[in-house]
Amino acid sequence: MTSFLRPLAYRHRWIYDTVTAVSALSVGGVSRLRGLGVEALQNQLEAGAAVLDLCCGSGEAAAPWLAAGFSVTGLDIAPRALDLAAIRQPQMHLVEGLAEDPPLADERFAAVQISVALHEFPRKERVQVLTSCLRLLQPDGWLVLVDLHPAGPWLKLPQQLFCALFETDTATAMLEDDLVFQLNELGFCSVKQELLAGQALQRITARKPPSAQP
Ligand SMILES: C[S@@+](CC[C@H](N)C(=O)[O-])C[C@H]1O[C@@H](n2cnc3c(N)ncnc32)[C@H](O)[C@@H]1O
Repeated sequence: MTSFLRPLAYRHRWIYDTVTAVSALSVGGVSRLRGLGVEALQNQLEAGAAVLDLCCGSGEAAAPWLAAGFSVTGLDIAPRALDLAAIRQPQMHLVEGLAEDPPLADERFAAVQISVALHEFPRKERVQVLTSCLRLLQPDGWLVLVDLHPAGPWLKLPQQLFCALFETDTATAMLEDDLVFQLNELGFCSVKQELLAGQALQRITARKPPSAQP
């Protein structure tokens, strides 16, 4: 079930940006939220390495990677978001496609980021997205996920309200799942989870094993 506010927020950019800004306060502001992926992996990657921002939207979470000198490809299903990304991040290579089956070559990326987007997928499709990440990553490549996590006592209520107003059932379903377990089951290694923002947010880094078959 989705409230009327979600389509409204996607149609009117200022609503989406305001909701993001308010939610990001718990993690220290929008630029910290957007930079969580690059912050986690910057020191693990070679300068200028190829990075995929899967479900890039209008490119806000790709911007810190670009600023750090990485070569960034952004993939999203929404042409409107990609049009905006092309204006906001002209250096980014943009691809329209499905994250469940990205039209991109195997083992092309040193890192894949999925920033606050995995909760958009039902369980089965979420597995497809993560399996695609294994296919797209070079051996030893890195995945970084930033997404919702069941909040601790202080933010439980605000998180429930946020999910009810702006998210779909897929978000609540993801909150019931253990992403660390899921990533290990799919064949990722070195899976590490950090809880942020009163536990309302999780950042997970994981690696494709050197000889993993996609
Ligand atoms: C909440 S936004 C996050 C955007 C961006 N990653 C960020 O951090 O600002 C989720 C994005 O996922 C995209 N998306 C949803 N389903 C998708 C799919 N099946 N394939 C590719 N992108 C998808 C949406 O179009 C939207 O841009």
